[in-house]
Amino acid sequence: MSEKLRLAVLVSGRGSNLRALSDAIDAGRCAADIVSVVADRPCEALGFARERDLATRVVRPKEHADRAAWDAALAQAIGDAEPHWVVLAGFRRIVGDAVLSRFGGRIVNVHPSLLPAFPGLHAPRQAIEANVRVAGCTVHLVDAGVDTGPILAQAALRVAADDDEGSLHRRIQALEHRLLPEVVDAIATGSLQTRERIRWVESFGGALLDGD
Ligand code: GRF
Repeated sequence: MSEKLRLAVLVSGRGSNLRALSDAIDAGRCAADIVSVVADRPCEALGFARERDLATRVVRPKEHADRAAWDAALAQAIGDAEPHWVVLAGFRRIVGDAVLSRFGGRIVNVHPSLLPAFPGLHAPRQAIEANVRVAGCTVHLVDAGVDTGPILAQAALRVAADDDEGSLHRRIQALEHRLLPEVVDAIATGSLQTRERIRWVESFGGALLDGD
């Protein structure tokens, strides 16, 4: 059997995307292995990782002299597990040069908007405030900017008249939980290069745009 795609997953929060990835792997829908979960703070995601017996590391900024030192320690912690790819799954910091120079082109992020709309913090709030009718999530490669790297896949939904920030974010997250494992599986199976981006949108689009 060929080696599965080794993933390091970076987290800061609740960890629902980590859980979705882990569940998809267990269900045979994502040909990857989570070899390390790295956090920048104590968080619920770490608790989940420990429950599943996943290796964990915590690299806290305040334990390092400056941002460059933290970034170097983060790159080292990720690299120790020898991952093929790195997944930012709710990681609430910008990775710096040390991480990018070592893993650049092999880092994906999941973001709760249809980029390039609404990069940065509170994307669902930005979508509600802008009164958009269609929202969604994006999986993209990470570069030095904030949510600016090449888009790999998007999934969309219709914003309901009574959606608020919380309800919209919850519905977008349900999309993330489907899209992220699918993209990781496409990377693992080598089909990412040959599938056109739009296929992911269409594979969710019909049903999701008509209902939830
Ligand atoms: C997700 O909405 C993701 O798009 C954003 O942060 C949130 C993380 O949620 N980058 P979780 O920690 O995976 O539950």
